[in-house]
Amino acid sequence: MVPELSESGQDGAVPDSLVVVSNREPYSHERGDDGEIRVQSAAGGLTSALDPVMRARGGTWVAWGSGDADMAVAEDGVVEVPPSDPAYELKRVPLSEAAVQGYYYGYANQVLWPLCHEDTGRMWAEPAYWEQYRAVNEQFAEAVDTVAEAGQPVWFQDYHLALAPGLVRERRPDATLLQFWHIPWPAPSVFRHCPHSDALLDGLLACDVVGFHTAAYAEQFLHCVDGAFPAATVDADGGTVIRNGGETRVVANPLGVDVEGVRDRARAADVAGVREAVLGDSDSDASIRLALGVERLDYSKGIPERIEALAHLWDRRPDLRGEFTYVQKASRTREGIAAYRRYRADVRDAVDRVNDRFGTDDWQPIVYTEAALDDGTLAGLYRAAEAAVVTPHRDGMNLVAHEYSAACVDGDGALVLSELAGAASYLDGALTVNPHDIAAIADAVEAALELDGAAARDRLERLRDSVEALDSADWVARQFSARC
Ligand code: F6P
Repeated sequence: MVPELSESGQDGAVPDSLVVVSNREPYSHERGDDGEIRVQSAAGGLTSALDPVMRARGGTWVAWGSGDADMAVAEDGVVEVPPSDPAYELKRVPLSEAAVQGYYYGYANQVLWPLCHEDTGRMWAEPAYWEQYRAVNEQFAEAVDTVAEAGQPVWFQDYHLALAPGLVRERRPDATLLQFWHIPWPAPSVFRHCPHSDALLDGLLACDVVGFHTAAYAEQFLHCVDGAFPAATVDADGGTVIRNGGETRVVANPLGVDVEGVRDRARAADVAGVREAVLGDSDSDASIRLALGVERLDYSKGIPERIEALAHLWDRRPDLRGEFTYVQKASRTREGIAAYRRYRADVRDAVDRVNDRFGTDDWQPIVYTEAALDDGTLAGLYRAAEAAVVTPHRDGMNLVAHEYSAACVDGDGALVLSELAGAASYLDGALTVNPHDIAAIADAVEAALELDGAAARDRLERLRDSVEALDSADWVARQFSARC
């Protein structure tokens, strides 16, 4: 069994300063319609976990400069961040339009994303995608070589950067290199679909440590390595690979959320105000019970099945009509890819169909919003919802499940969770379902609404303990503690 690093890491293992490398940048500069340049900080688990460490330790964050005013405010591509209280440097990598199309919309999101989510029917491997992916990884490697000081470890993030570690290793044989793969790693039989599978493994094995959210992903990675490189020594139990004279540790290092931060925001939230703001006219009756889904409009998220499951529930439980509303907070994403545009249209059509079928003059079954919600509003929405429904087909971890569990500060709340999300390996107390089993999702939502008394308290207690155990503050220390 691959070592699972769920204990706290050693704080002393975190270096005094480091280089983080990711596709998305923690801060971008955008020019508004009025010509003013404004800073936007990125949402998401990766930034929330790494920005505090970079602020405390210092170093350089290398990322794609995607903001339209990014380069205007930088010197040699470098800007001090956070702009309000500079603590570390952000080195922006400028990407041409062709590079964005081939590397980001192409290889990363039409080859690696569907591959790792085991949805190979959606893979489309244009030759130009691979060329651009290689070229952009080279650009990132060059940027790292420019900024990394001797002895500074370099930590690559996610599937956009599988080749960059190998390219940095060529330039810096003695550097300490780490990678964390935030999405699932597929089974070997699926990974074989990738035309560039050996090159990807080769790039990742240039690292001293490769981390995944779960032991299952780490094991699948090790089996892929074993199959691809017969000359390598793979210890699947110890989680090590020895190849070409170098050793890589492969670990399960689950990322969680800043539990106390989420709780503080939930406690401070004006729940009634948030309810009114998000539900608007459809919230004529403040006693209507709520369930909630929060996701990007990504085909891996299982939203249409969930909507169908809700239709089943309202069909067989007419007493829940007018009693219970489902809120879907959805964010537009990767719309340069036709499959994402279609998915958004399908989700919206499904919502309309259900609302037409069951809605009344006084009640809207599904409230769908694509509005950007700040963290405080989201925390209020979590608190207002009696249940969160998180049913992806596959998901590396799913931090919405963690955030919701942490935000249940009133002592009520239930989580319906896909057994195929990484979070299902860690969040004890959730009602787990197969995300394709529409009847089972309907039953689980019904059970979540009916949970009561000691059983409800017990499940929530276990959920809270689970998210506390994976607090994001320990994640960085655990990854660095895993160095050989
Ligand atoms: O889950 C993988 C991931 O890259 C996250 O790190 C990120 O929050 C999300 O997908 C958003 O994707 P994108 O950067 O393509 O908008």
